[in-house]
Amino acid sequence: MYVCICHALNEKKVKAALNDGATTPAAVFRHHGCQVQCGKCVPTVRAMAADHRATCAQNRAQAASQDHVPAYGVAAE
Ligand code: FES
Repeated sequence: MYVCICHALNEKKVKAALNDGATTPAAVFRHHGCQVQCGKCVPTVRAMAADHRATCAQNRAQAASQDHVPAYGVAAE
């Protein structure tokens, strides 16, 4: 589905930019070598970036919690 009609950016392209480190709508546009025109897509891109950040934070928290759980019991001496 197209997110930005002006630049033919679909969800896949926006997600690719987010996965490559873009955190804002402006960064998503820069990633694809363009800039905001009409701005109608900005709230959607902003929401996708927020979802992406939340998912990344959740994944980091989950990975961190798994790092601190010993696989086997540790004998206390
Ligand atoms: S729809 Fe994205 S700038 Fe117009």
